[in-house]
Amino acid sequence: MAESMRGLKRSHRCGELSSANIGETVTVMGWVQKNRNKGGIVFVDLRDRSGILQLIFENGSVSEADFEKAGRLRSEFVIAAVGTVEARSGAVNENLATGEIEIRVRELRILSESETPPFPIEENSKTKEELRLKYRYLDLRRPDLQRNLMMRSRVATLTRQFLADEGFLEIETPILVGSTPEGARDYLVPSRVHPGSFYALPQSPQLFKQLLMCSGYDRYFQIAKCFRDEDLRADRQPEFTQIDMELSFVDVEDVLDVNERLLAKIFKEILGVEVPLPIPRMTWQEAMNRFGSDKPDIRFGMELVDVSEVVKNSQFVVFKGALESGGSVRGINAKGQGAMPRKKIDKLVDFAKDFGAKGLAYIAIQEDGAIKSSFAKFMTEEEMASLIKAMDGENGDLLLFAADKNKVVWDVLGNLRLEIARQLDILNKEEYKFLWVTEFPLLEWSDEQNRYLAMHHPFTMPMEEDLPFIDTEPGKVRAKAYDIVLNGTELGGGSVRISNNDIQNKMFEVLGFTKERAEEQFGFLLNAFKYGVPPHAGLAYGLDRMVMLMAKEDSIRDVIAFPKVKDASCLMTEAPTRVEQKQLDELGIALVDESTGK
Ligand code: AMO
Ligand code: AMP
Repeated sequence: MAESMRGLKRSHRCGELSSANIGETVTVMGWVQKNRNKGGIVFVDLRDRSGILQLIFENGSVSEADFEKAGRLRSEFVIAAVGTVEARSGAVNENLATGEIEIRVRELRILSESETPPFPIEENSKTKEELRLKYRYLDLRRPDLQRNLMMRSRVATLTRQFLADEGFLEIETPILVGSTPEGARDYLVPSRVHPGSFYALPQSPQLFKQLLMCSGYDRYFQIAKCFRDEDLRADRQPEFTQIDMELSFVDVEDVLDVNERLLAKIFKEILGVEVPLPIPRMTWQEAMNRFGSDKPDIRFGMELVDVSEVVKNSQFVVFKGALESGGSVRGINAKGQGAMPRKKIDKLVDFAKDFGAKGLAYIAIQEDGAIKSSFAKFMTEEEMASLIKAMDGENGDLLLFAADKNKVVWDVLGNLRLEIARQLDILNKEEYKFLWVTEFPLLEWSDEQNRYLAMHHPFTMPMEEDLPFIDTEPGKVRAKAYDIVLNGTELGGGSVRISNNDIQNKMFEVLGFTKERAEEQFGFLLNAFKYGVPPHAGLAYGLDRMVMLMAKEDSIRDVIAFPKVKDASCLMTEAPTRVEQKQLDELGIALVDESTGK
């Protein structure tokens, strides 16, 4: 039977006590981690979000009734205990922050009993994630998840403090907004009052924050929920949180400066990690050429080498074909991997094919200088020698080459480089290497839609010096856009915005919008720009991703209290669910039978 805590007041959290408190009378409350009954003595590990504390119940120092209760305690019972802090009678537990002390209990109350949980509440749980997510409220009791969410809270608090000190105002923007089918797919919300009309959930507060700049708020930030109906991955959720900001009367430098200081503060205060400032910068073009990625992991080398020039006269059809159709031949040198067994190399070839490669050519240089290669027979000896030289190939190295359109070559080698680093286990999670990637292309050609798409979003300012090419060679125009990359993850991104209707209209035109459609979807922004708009720029971080990297987790789900799984459902609440016919009727929605389509 559960007892009340009447008359008791918690004096400390479990983890707050130490040998400095020896002799004090304390009242602690929490969950029973485990209970060891040794006849005349019962030891109980008590847990709350701050840590674990050992309680000791000895026949004589507690009442008979309480001693008997202590013997009945089971995992996850919620209890209150009053007692005295003492030095541990038994061996000191080095693994516990409170390992030098214990509480000799003189009063015990059972505040709530617990059934046996479906899985043990413990760190580094081996329980399948599906089961843990179904019982997320129990999973969230685990110390590792509690530490992650406490860290997340600290990141949010520090961010608020820092940005407030820098003159930013925290302003909320709406969650029910108009649909703008540019970017990811929208989540739609039907309107009851306007049958047949829909709100969308915001993919980001982009338009609103720009309008706030038009309204003179000067510096805005928000810790904003964003919604995108896209395919999920380990670092993507359908709803996620941004640290979103916008600044007036600034250019690229100003945005990078305030953000570098914000990042340095967060990493210093929470992780004790010194972020050397300024954070290095690399243009998009350089990032692609050297790392085959617009979010390069610069914790290690294995950089791409363009060998197109070296092999330009080769008769090897694969190389020749790629070069003739305007592509390139590039390689990476997996140092010291020349002895990799054929089977493993074949796996790398398959991996490359997953990223669109038609094949992967290799040269494995043995320790004795002998060469094993998939394409040596198509090359002259001189060609092989100059290729190896261009790759800095030494005895014991494995050289891997891709030949294709640039885009494919970058993607293949960029990913291969990461895969080999993972296999070699050289990625150190303790090391935090930040990088700004700048000067992104403004536009990206979509074969699927047969038109240009905005690489960042349609409100991004082209670089002034590239503006003259916007009609003739739109693909060449670079944007005043920047991403902040940490260890190969895109942490955040932003840009200087277009603040001029002529350029904004031109941008819509290049993106294939008719004047009417641009007006229909973004008319309010174009109108706002008619009434005095300051130059402005901004950036948004993925808060979830930031905390994921800080907590050294591999999945974004481990830093979100109630995450969704791959098919965007919540295993705990079972959302999304069917709704009652009455609700649909009110909304004027008729459902189509999935099997017949009618
Ligand atoms: P962007 O679309 O690049 O920019 O988003 C900014 C950051 O948000 C994070 N992010 C996500 N995190 C988890 N799950 C997702 N599905 C997801 N999608 C994005 C990433 C990303 O870098 N309005 C612009 C910002 C601006 O221009 O100011 C924007 O939303 O870490
Ligand atoms: P093949 O003549 O098709 O057997 O190809 C010879 C070698 O070139 C094999 O190792 C293939 O995997 C490799 N190869 C084929 N296509 C490409 C490509 N696009 N880029 C790099 N290597 C390739």
